[in-house]
Amino acid sequence: MRDWKDKIAVVTGASSGIGAATARRLAREGLQVMLVARRLDRLEELAGQIRQNGGRAECLPADLSQEGDRRRIFNEIETRFGHVDVLINNAGFCWYGYGAEMSWKTAWEMLQVNVEAVVQLSLSCLTHMRKRGSGHIINVGSISGSIPSQGIALYGATKSFLDNFTTALHRELSRTHLHVSVVRAGPVRTEFGEAALQQENGGHVPTEHIGVSAEHVAWRIWKLILRPRRVIYIPDWLRVVPWAELAFGWIIDRVGPLLLKNQKT
Ligand SMILES: NC(=O)c1ccc[n+]([C@@H]2O[C@H](COP(=O)([O-])OP(=O)(O)OC[C@H]3O[C@@H](n4cnc5c(N)ncnc54)[C@H](OP(=O)(O)O)[C@@H]3O)[C@@H](O)[C@H]2O)c1
Repeated sequence: MRDWKDKIAVVTGASSGIGAATARRLAREGLQVMLVARRLDRLEELAGQIRQNGGRAECLPADLSQEGDRRRIFNEIETRFGHVDVLINNAGFCWYGYGAEMSWKTAWEMLQVNVEAVVQLSLSCLTHMRKRGSGHIINVGSISGSIPSQGIALYGATKSFLDNFTTALHRELSRTHLHVSVVRAGPVRTEFGEAALQQENGGHVPTEHIGVSAEHVAWRIWKLILRPRRVIYIPDWLRVVPWAELAFGWIIDRVGPLLLKNQKT
């Protein structure tokens, strides 16, 4: 097995949920983790726990909606470590409701965090990874990227973007030792629903209290690092969803709007 002791992992959205659990997991496996998110108190608390357990962690507070912060992350990585072995593009958020009622401010921020930050960090890291001839980028997508759904029009579209972007890069790099993977996750019990509700005019995400644990997702991400693949579904049975959209999308066309109406009234 490869020695993970000197490997550097950058985890965005490490202040809660999937990101925090993944950072904990990778640190336990011996990687040095760089924790990125806005809430520094949360990052410091997590870094403290990791260090107490014998791991190595550093905090890098950053707002990924800001281009300057995104550039600073990469400059910091270069200064502190010189390179990245594993980049987990996990930070993201949702907004639930009629797409036409979403403010441009929220939409813009979602595009910055869920899409532009992923592209910018990936391109910066890929430049270095290509020079070193190794590295793995994991983009935390969602099954909603495979099944356009009422209530999450823009969120689902940002995750479709990740699917397409990741798959194409994976194909381009298939004859190298560089890996790019997407995680198509179903519902996960995190602060995701709460964060969506806090957005301007945002509603409850219907799946907010169901799903697998963040620790389970972190474990699957670790397995993905050990055995790189283009895509994983969490849980596995969700691999039927893209087929279901093709075969039964016409049913969702009819039932979907009713579900959203019931949820909003
Ligand atoms: N939970 C689910 O059901 C589910 C299902 C499929 C996919 N996902 C995806 O999984 C990823 C993680 O979500 P989660 O479920 O773990 O939710 P979460 O607990 O709300 O975590 C979201 C993370 O993203 C960070 N973030 C949000 N906006 C940011 C910004 N402007 N700058 C920097 N960091 C920002 C948050 O940190 P700060 O607020 O401290 O900045 C937080 O650490 C997301 O990409 C989400 O789309 C979630």
